[in-house]
Amino acid sequence: MDASLQHAALPAVEALPDRPLPFCLRYVRRYWVQVATMVVLEAGQSGCSILLPFAIKQMMDGVAVAQAGGHDAWAAVREPFWLFAALNLGVVLCSRASGTLLVMLGPALRRRVRRELFAWLQLHSQRYFLSNFAGSLANRIAEVSMGVAQVIWTVLFDFWPLAISFGVSQVLLAQVNPRLALVLGAWIVVYVLVSFLLARRCRRYARDYAAARSAVSGTIVDSVSNIMTAKLFARRDFERRYLDDYLEVEVARARSTFWFMEGIRWFQFLSALVLMLGVIGYALKLFGAGAMSAGQFAMAASLSLLLIEQARGLSRRFLEFFEFLGNINDGVGMIVRPHEVVDLPGAAPLAVTRGEIRFEHVDFAYSAERPVFRDLNLVFAPGERVGLVGYSGSGKSTLVNLVLRLFEPQAGRILIDGQDVRTVTQESLRAAVAMIPQDPLLFHRSLMDNIRYGRLDASDEEVIEAARRAHAHEFIVAMEQGYDALVGERGVKLSGGQRQRIALARAILKGSPILLLDEATSALDSVTEKLIQQSLDFLMRDRTVVVIAHRLSTLASMDRIVVFHEGRVVEDGSHAALLARDGHYAHMWAMQAGGFLPEDAQAEEAAGD
Ligand SMILES: Nc1ncnc2c1ncn2[C@@H]1O[C@H](COP(=O)(O)OP(=O)(O)O)[C@@H](O)[C@H]1O
Ligand SMILES: [Mg+2]
Repeated sequence: MDASLQHAALPAVEALPDRPLPFCLRYVRRYWVQVATMVVLEAGQSGCSILLPFAIKQMMDGVAVAQAGGHDAWAAVREPFWLFAALNLGVVLCSRASGTLLVMLGPALRRRVRRELFAWLQLHSQRYFLSNFAGSLANRIAEVSMGVAQVIWTVLFDFWPLAISFGVSQVLLAQVNPRLALVLGAWIVVYVLVSFLLARRCRRYARDYAAARSAVSGTIVDSVSNIMTAKLFARRDFERRYLDDYLEVEVARARSTFWFMEGIRWFQFLSALVLMLGVIGYALKLFGAGAMSAGQFAMAASLSLLLIEQARGLSRRFLEFFEFLGNINDGVGMIVRPHEVVDLPGAAPLAVTRGEIRFEHVDFAYSAERPVFRDLNLVFAPGERVGLVGYSGSGKSTLVNLVLRLFEPQAGRILIDGQDVRTVTQESLRAAVAMIPQDPLLFHRSLMDNIRYGRLDASDEEVIEAARRAHAHEFIVAMEQGYDALVGERGVKLSGGQRQRIALARAILKGSPILLLDEATSALDSVTEKLIQQSLDFLMRDRTVVVIAHRLSTLASMDRIVVFHEGRVVEDGSHAALLARDGHYAHMWAMQAGGFLPEDAQAEEAAGD
């Protein structure tokens, strides 16, 4: 693992704006020097280009005057020629300087957006991640970072230069003839306004089209994921027809969008025509009446050509601009929400002295209609090993999650050594508690890195020692790449039992004073489980341990067993005491021939009949 991963000091997580424009402005402000320089350079570039017709006019007028007076033409046009050359050079220099800045700024800006969004995202609650897919969150982050850059570039490289061109050409024409400038000004206002309105109308079509496209890809993904089922049921043709329906919709939506865009193009071509005829016709009239020189006429004509060239596609750029803003809006709407579980201001680190866990009058529900716990009171004594038993859905995992503050109780409190878990920092809480879930997921990193995740500064030897204890070493060295093996996304290339052993090794390395095992050995066969029992005993020494297990034999050696039923503690005592009581636990024990608990009460009753 890269040593810098452990030690780099990271900036604190900052609050982010949750509206698209303020969100973009945040990054403009961050990089204001570069952005301001680019504003100047872009103004320079577009100012120089739009002044070219002026230089041409000066040259033509110079030649005309020289010819009329019989002077040396080159002497007359020398200055305008240098102006022309300087303007061209200005275009080159400004545009390339701006390009250089863009190369520097673009990637840095996108990195910053991604970093900040990722840091914000990390702090969301368990609930948030259960209801948002990892893939779509990653996509949103990518889209927002692209979107922010695109919005800024569109303003910098499209809107702003166009505004400069419009402004400069107005001034140039006004000097020749104010009425000519007025014609152009009116055209600009109408053109920009109509382009904007058309783009806004077009957005609806573009959105529908995008939705249809993603429905098609979604259908293909779904169909490919279930290709086995399609094959097994001989439904290939059915799937093709099913896809056809979606493709049909996409084609229809694409056509409406493109028709609308075609309409926009009609508007653009016609307005270009109007501008050309208007400006050139009027200028010709002035020229013919002697109110305008040949140079001025040439300038007016080439100005309108240049403007038409630049203003073409304004609707499209507005449309894209809206689209980028829309993407940013969707992305920040999903990611930049208030965090559900936050450290209190001034939260202190948790200090575990003895390892007592205490539930006091805890009410908890995932959703208001279905409470899981009502007024739950429970104490796990320091160093005690407690087994939690109950049918699936009785709230065992929930209890463990509450200790870790992955969810927050609606009422009551949970104390560790007298400290309310809500008042300590989440980092310190989770450092003090090691939890092995039923279905541990692994990073798509080497097995070495995956185990070392429990303690980043552990040496390779320590990692291997932990793997030995968890009885993972054997299968790891049997793999082709051993500890360097990558295990696929989320660890899909390992079996459930292998992943559980990696997670166990991780927890052994972590060595926290409190240990929670949520069916952590459920995927192991009983032989392997027996094998690692010794390591588990070692792991559990001098710690407070809560073990949830389906296989009751796993729990027989616990100090105490707590039996849950529908979120209530129905029995509590040692294995022997509970057997003697002949209640729920004794019943379940009798049901298991060293095997498993029945899935639920019905199954058990059915079996009991
Ligand atoms: N993330 C969740 N959102 C909503 N309900 C949940 C969630 N997790 C569990 N539940 C519900 O809470 C109850 C207790 O679940 P859980 O604690 O996982 O039970 P156990 O671990 O004992 O099988 C069940 O009714 C379950 O459906
Ligand atoms: Mg569970």
